[in-house]
Amino acid sequence: MLEKAKRLLQPSARSAVPPFMVMDVMAAARRLEVQGRRIIHMEVGQPAAGAPTTAIAAARAALSTSALGYTETLGIASLRQRIARAYSEWHGLEIDPNRIVVTTGSSAGFILAFLAAFEAGDRVAVALPGYPPYRHILTVLGCEPVWIETAAQTRWSITSEALIAHHRARPLKGVIVGSPANPTGTMMTAAALTELIQSAEDAGIAVISDEIYHGLDYAFAAESAARVSDDAIIINSFSKYFCMTGWRIGWMVVPPPLVRAIERLQQNLAVAVPTLSQIAAEAAFDARAELTKVKEGYEENRRILLEGLPGVGFNSFLPADGAFYLYANVSRFATDSFEFATRMLQEAGVAATPGADFDPLHGKNFLRLCYAGARQEMREAIARIGAWLSG
Ligand SMILES: Cc1ncc(COP(=O)(O)O)c(C=O)c1O
Repeated sequence: MLEKAKRLLQPSARSAVPPFMVMDVMAAARRLEVQGRRIIHMEVGQPAAGAPTTAIAAARAALSTSALGYTETLGIASLRQRIARAYSEWHGLEIDPNRIVVTTGSSAGFILAFLAAFEAGDRVAVALPGYPPYRHILTVLGCEPVWIETAAQTRWSITSEALIAHHRARPLKGVIVGSPANPTGTMMTAAALTELIQSAEDAGIAVISDEIYHGLDYAFAAESAARVSDDAIIINSFSKYFCMTGWRIGWMVVPPPLVRAIERLQQNLAVAVPTLSQIAAEAAFDARAELTKVKEGYEENRRILLEGLPGVGFNSFLPADGAFYLYANVSRFATDSFEFATRMLQEAGVAATPGADFDPLHGKNFLRLCYAGARQEMREAIARIGAWLSG
């Protein structure tokens, strides 16, 4: 029986994507917690706060008053209108609500965007270091992720020169940009983003802009690709700024020619996005003061780490302009940050993500620390790392 199942149910070759290492670190941390250890979690990139009170109240009310059936595939009309209005509030932009597509987290947005914009075999540029699922989803869908290494001089983002050089070597069909970026937290200036989008589009390269960390900018205001071009696909989410990771809800701003294609794809892939999450998400826009407080907490955590970590020997970071990450170079302590992270977890009780998740070329020199936790934990993490490194 087992033999037959093994013959029939071989995983497909395209499912053989690498695991997301951060989840392995989280599992190791959980095992230590089961043994009674107290672990400071700086590995997973999610807000410590739950959904805003306005979102919870709307969800509670909907549970008792609504049948919560399917919604329109592109999302509840009032939510799409509210999202469009947010572009006017945040960026002074008029966005047609018909261009807004509600998705099951930004993760589903990537699948829809890649399927709608690219054919199997198309080459799509991604930054290294960068968010691993960009590469892995492209691969699963039969596209080819093309790594472009980034550098400090260009704020760890793809430049128009690098993009066009790769395009000349072998044509690209798309490029993914993210600012603020994961894992570095660095941001592109408005001028750099504009230049990149314009050169990409002049060369016939479609731009997908991951704006999931918008709202969490500390160094300067994040620019939206929506201001630069109506042809860029914008991807965003309620997971980070709105603290709604587990509600699995996000959105896209889609160029008009792709709206119907994306609607057809989502009809077939998901039918619609969870109704309760859509209702809660719309109400989350009313929690401005609460969300500003959460953001101020991250800002304070960032300050504590940037000031405190150098004193304990952790002193080489990429610019932490936004999001809630520090990407620290730990090559002076170890040749492999996976081994370093494993020891730091075991011996100091601080969980962080090894850079190899984000950058197969140079990630072994880096560790990503997420500072979305409680303020006291930031201070304790510094103390624990300090005692461990000097012990
Ligand atoms: C850069 C980036 N994009 C997208 C996602 C996916 O988020 P979600 O599917 O929860 O919207 C994440 C999650 O960590 C991320 O860091």
